[in-house]
Amino acid sequence: MRVAIFGATGPTGQFAVKEALEKGYYVTALVRSPEKLTKKDDKLQVEKVNIFKPEELEPHLKECDAVISCLGTPRQGFLGWSKVSFYTDTMKSIVSAMRKSNTKRLVCLTSIGTEKAPGNPWVVEWIFRPLLIGNILSNMAEMEHYLVDHCSDLSYTVVRPAGLEDGPSSGKDIQTEENQYVTGASIAMPRADVGKFVIDCVEKESWLQKIVAIGLLP
Ligand SMILES: NC(=O)c1ccc[n+]([C@@H]2O[C@H](COP(=O)([O-])OP(=O)(O)OC[C@H]3O[C@@H](n4cnc5c(N)ncnc54)[C@H](OP(=O)(O)O)[C@@H]3O)[C@@H](O)[C@H]2O)c1
Repeated sequence: MRVAIFGATGPTGQFAVKEALEKGYYVTALVRSPEKLTKKDDKLQVEKVNIFKPEELEPHLKECDAVISCLGTPRQGFLGWSKVSFYTDTMKSIVSAMRKSNTKRLVCLTSIGTEKAPGNPWVVEWIFRPLLIGNILSNMAEMEHYLVDHCSDLSYTVVRPAGLEDGPSSGKDIQTEENQYVTGASIAMPRADVGKFVIDCVEKESWLQKIVAIGLLP
């Protein structure tokens, strides 16, 4: 199994790379700053690409059985009001390259609470959405709709993690729910657990063409 990982230099992406290598997968990390990926492994190939240029991605995806995206963009604009198109722009580029290279499996990250829903954690509805990252959540939701409405030819799984924190894996069972959030879960979870979940997802049939929230019970 060879997987391509976007966002491999990010804090969650680095855990995904580690998990994939530990599973014995070959990994192609497609990044804009190769110097940031300090991990060395015979099974790890690092390639510098422009994520917005599908023609640069396609040759690398040809060799891959699955594509994983841990891409993310920092908080942008006053009160999260400026327009964000990072998630849709990057996903459209990835999907275009996947189609040209005939790669079908995709696992990517958004977040809990991408859209308003009864029972969403209060901190998402009263703090994050109106004051901090409303623009990011809404572009994540657009990306989810793009995959559902326009990418039925792909075996995608969208993973919606709770808030991310650094540190080691919790060692707990990761809870899942096809919902905007996992009922009763803590508001945050380690990136290490998320990296493991996305890699474990690659070969799981149960989450094909699904959007799944993940979290940990307190
Ligand atoms: N923070 C939270 O509490 C939270 C909660 C739920 C979900 N999420 C989502 O989970 C995902 C992972 O989060 P994270 O904190 O681990 O990572 P992150 O810091 O959001 O993602 C950074 C990754 O994206 C890459 N990237 C950003 N802009 C790029 C560009 N223009 N071209 C190429 N690569 C680009 C970065 O590359 P460089 O290293 O080169 O900058 C890095 O590898 C994100 O989508 C995030 O929004 C976050």
